[in-house]
Amino acid sequence: MTEQTLDLAISGGVVADGSGAPAFTADVGIAGGRIVAVGALAQPAQRVIDARGLVVAPGFIDVHSHDDMALIRGPRLDFKMMQGVTTVVVGNCGSGVAPVTAAYRQYYEVFLSSVLGPAADFSWSTTAEFYTTLEKAGPSLNVAAFAPHGTLRFAVMGMEPRPPSSGEMEQMKELLEEALAAGAIGLSSGLVYAPGAFATTEELVELCRVVACHGGIYASHIRDEGDHLLEAVAEAISIGREAGVPVQISHHKASGRRNWGKVVDSLALIDRARAEGLDVTVDVYPYTAGSTFLSMILAGGAEEGGLEDVLVAAAPHHPELEGKSLQQIGELMALPPLEAGQKLVQEDPSAVAIAFTMAEEDVRRVMAHPAAMFGSDGIPSAGGKPHPRLYGTFPRVLGTYVRREKVLGLEEAVRKMTDLPARKHHLTERGRLAPGYHADVTVLDPRCINDIAIYQDPRRYPDGIRYVIVNGEVVVEASRHTGKSVGRVLRAGG
Ligand code: ZN
Ligand code: CU
Repeated sequence: MTEQTLDLAISGGVVADGSGAPAFTADVGIAGGRIVAVGALAQPAQRVIDARGLVVAPGFIDVHSHDDMALIRGPRLDFKMMQGVTTVVVGNCGSGVAPVTAAYRQYYEVFLSSVLGPAADFSWSTTAEFYTTLEKAGPSLNVAAFAPHGTLRFAVMGMEPRPPSSGEMEQMKELLEEALAAGAIGLSSGLVYAPGAFATTEELVELCRVVACHGGIYASHIRDEGDHLLEAVAEAISIGREAGVPVQISHHKASGRRNWGKVVDSLALIDRARAEGLDVTVDVYPYTAGSTFLSMILAGGAEEGGLEDVLVAAAPHHPELEGKSLQQIGELMALPPLEAGQKLVQEDPSAVAIAFTMAEEDVRRVMAHPAAMFGSDGIPSAGGKPHPRLYGTFPRVLGTYVRREKVLGLEEAVRKMTDLPARKHHLTERGRLAPGYHADVTVLDPRCINDIAIYQDPRRYPDGIRYVIVNGEVVVEASRHTGKSVGRVLRAGG
């Protein structure tokens, strides 16, 4: 150990270092934005945080976020910082905010703003310009980004429901190259959303070959999470195999009662691919409800029934209906739930809703799988009652599934929030408490860590997150956000 004075010492906590190894009591020394020592510290420190009785972990990494625009509007990103998150990955589900064309701005206003929140003034157009704008906004936490397939396709082909011409394919590749050169960590796809859904497997393989050249990864909201879940998982794996890219299956689930239990088979497919040597992992959020456009929920649920419990999360033109179920809205409109939902979609095409489509047992099975990490999939719409995963994902895992239900151990849960996602997404020297790593640290109280956000009252900060340190600076101090802007844009290879 060196004799230098430390900037910060976190003393006497129980260290879960991200590796998954048993936690141990130790001090953590920080200097120059890096962890310089883990053990009994001999050197003096400018500041000491007493962590006795607390758990000290690497800062959490939210691999599946939709915070692209939220970071520009409000770079403190309170709802993530207060969960102990120190890095968010944006550009997921094939949807992002660059590159921007005139048509895209309009599309954003009409459709995406109910998911990603109202647009800032779009002062950027290329991916590189977006990353610079993000940096200038001064985020409190670190940000890494995928190049979003749907957005690239939109820039070249608009909403054309057909394969690209060879010229269009070349243009898409150029935009992808540009994004990867700017620091995108890979390509994401959203194969249920237009225009991404119009892509064939071949189109995705061809684009992923470009990703492979840059050492990036492919993350996919796969083509079907219900009746054709297994085929959709197989497609994602085959894209990884063909193009030679690591694969991340986003928000892995089996949706719809008749599909419950299918995650046993989907995880077996993933295990087989991994045994073959392919790098296939998944992310998951700890809830049995999903959230997406109401129009999509109606299309999927109409065959199945059970729409009464669907909750409207955001309806820009009908804010008075936010937080209400389709049953309640149906009573107001004197219509059955399905027709009430359809009427709302006619008036509010971008309305977002929450549907309870998953089995608790499946959610547990996925989160306990060694290749699963966590992603909130939080939807940071400006108004409304967003799915509580936006505010609660990480504390919910630690409170409900580690402490109370013992679905997984603390060290393993921390590994899935830190080291596993950092390695997968090439966030170098992050995700561990070890000398030389960047000092992203979360200090929490294991006795009271808990999510507080609920469906009817989702904008509530969790309990039990005490300190959150980003790049060596204390951003959350005694459970209060200090407003510091010390986050960085984590560019691949940079
Ligand atoms: Zn998605
Ligand atoms: Cu998503």
